[in-house]
Amino acid sequence: MNDLKTIDPKSLSLPELHAYLISAVAPRPIAFASTMNDSGSVNLSPFSFFNVFSSNPPIMIFSASRRGRDNTTKDTLENVQKRPEVVINVVNYAIVEQMSLASAEYPQGVNEFTKSGLTEVPSLKVAPPRVAESPVSFECKVNKIIPLGNKGGAGNLIICEVLLMHINTNCLDDAGKINPEKMDVVARMGGNWYCRANMQSMFEIAKPSSKVGMGIDGLPHHIRDSELLSGNELGKLGHIEKLPSPEEVQLVYDMLEVKSLLKYEKDKKSRNTTLIRMAKEKLAAENLELAIRLLMAAG
Ligand SMILES: Cc1cc2nc3c(=O)[nH]c(=O)nc-3n(C[C@H](O)[C@H](O)[C@H](O)COP(=O)(O)O)c2cc1C
Repeated sequence: MNDLKTIDPKSLSLPELHAYLISAVAPRPIAFASTMNDSGSVNLSPFSFFNVFSSNPPIMIFSASRRGRDNTTKDTLENVQKRPEVVINVVNYAIVEQMSLASAEYPQGVNEFTKSGLTEVPSLKVAPPRVAESPVSFECKVNKIIPLGNKGGAGNLIICEVLLMHINTNCLDDAGKINPEKMDVVARMGGNWYCRANMQSMFEIAKPSSKVGMGIDGLPHHIRDSELLSGNELGKLGHIEKLPSPEEVQLVYDMLEVKSLLKYEKDKKSRNTTLIRMAKEKLAAENLELAIRLLMAAG
């Protein structure tokens, strides 16, 4: 087991606690929120305490915190308290620097669209404009605001219902679905770190099929206790619905690939290791059926 540092949040200063929280709960998507005050001036600020929480109704929540240093509230919060409308714009790599610029603490009434050089486009259902350069924008009404405390650092949940979505067609595939590579979204980590969801960082995991796998506990001990197999490899194997029969396992010895590798292995231990290594390759290639036969043969 790894050594643990166990921390009571009450024992930390607010900046220390904040740093742990935002570094551990990461990456976080960014709501680039456009709001308007009651005299009609526009505000645009990013919030990474944000996510989508419901599809029916379509609900997104972001949190504008009270400032840790002086317990003041942010313009965005004050705006939605007076005019409960917001456009949540998605941030991609092409606008990440402009988004960061818009997060500077400009005085109330300063339009961060102007400061950051982003383009306002009138919304159709709400008063605040959307960001033309964003790949996706959600016009929302604010259903509820829930304050989480009254001290510096306390969040204010701004619960938004999506009334209209605008998706840049450059981000769609031929079937009209959002292509994650074309979106090129960025997310916030701790400190000054961001991350970019491109093909170097994204990978696919097929959803478990409608048939439920037997789980890691259903694998024989020599497989689940093997030091050569990682948790991720066992996780893949746990999707298998039933173990192969002894006859199916025996078939692996007819494979040329297996014969040629095993002919140099003299003792049982090294033969089993070779079979497990081959199974790992098959797992990496998503060939679960052959992987489990090789692993059973290594028993
Ligand atoms: C990427 C990013 C994410 C941020 N996330 C949050 C957040 O979740 N909550 C928050 O209160 N401030 C967050 N901030 C800071 C606000 O954007 C910043 O305080 C801004 O000046 C608030 O603007 P306003 O007073 O015009 O609303 C974030 C800043 C950046 C750059």
